Amino acid sequence: MKIRKAVIPAGGLGTRFLPATKAIPKEMLPVVDTPTIQYIVEEAVKSGIEDIVIITGRTKRAIEDHFDKSAELEVRLDDAHKDAQLAQMEAISNLANMIYVRQKEPLGLGHAVMTAREVIGDEPFAVLLGDDVMTGEKPALAQLIEVFNEYDAPVVGVKAVPWTHTNKYGIIRAESAGEHLSRVEGLVEKPQPDKAPTNLAVMGRYVLTPEIFDILKETGKGVGGEIQLTDALDTLCTQRPMYAWELEGRRYDVGDKQGFLEATCEFALANPELKGPFARYLKQLVAQLEGEDIEQN
Ligand code: G1P
Repeated sequence: MKIRKAVIPAGGLGTRFLPATKAIPKEMLPVVDTPTIQYIVEEAVKSGIEDIVIITGRTKRAIEDHFDKSAELEVRLDDAHKDAQLAQMEAISNLANMIYVRQKEPLGLGHAVMTAREVIGDEPFAVLLGDDVMTGEKPALAQLIEVFNEYDAPVVGVKAVPWTHTNKYGIIRAESAGEHLSRVEGLVEKPQPDKAPTNLAVMGRYVLTPEIFDILKETGKGVGGEIQLTDALDTLCTQRPMYAWELEGRRYDVGDKQGFLEATCEFALANPELKGPFARYLKQLVAQLEGEDIEQN
């Protein structure tokens, strides 16, 4: 069955980015000139998704406005003959069929996914997390959809992380099933390194089957007092085969200040207009820093 729908949870409070996120959704913070959520929506569309369900909450109105048509702005750009910008604005509002569902309380990722149940119905679907921006030749979600199409089974996207970081991620227990591919035997949310079964961490990309909704309904609060998608997946993989695919491409954790800054620098260097002047600026900066003892900080 074709994967047509994707869920993007965006109901979180963004406390890691306060005060910037006091009045602005964290998903609207730009990397160079594009809100992070637009990179996620574009990846979904490039992977063949037609309907995008964004799980929002209070203070998230700017996300809806961003993907809507802005008639007034378009008229102004047209009058000013700013054709390239006009085309860019039109393209954003035509990216996909956007559907917004409110998550009334931030009760966790599992709860956010459950909120999409009515809109998803009885078909397999994708989940993309907004904190994980991925780059690379083949979109991350498209890689998972290929695996789904071959095995007709739920798939999670993983990457190996340093063992000291296992407590930041959902971690899989798995058996190798080929190059880049594992059969998932269990999952655990944010285990301490000495409790982690592997160092393969879930990187915010999932292709799920609709049984997950019934399982989520029965899933109690887990780590952090939240309903965890990882816990529901741990049950799902006992009911039907589940796979993990080691994603190709670079991943940026834009939910973290360091990761956000790394994305900003690298996306600027990949931008044809900024590359030259920004690289020159960075070289100067590095030369200046070389005299300083940064290891002390
Ligand atoms: C969430 C998931 C976790 C996953 C991570 C990927 O955690 O709960 O399983 O590995 O995203 O970024 P969060 O970063 O929201 O705490």
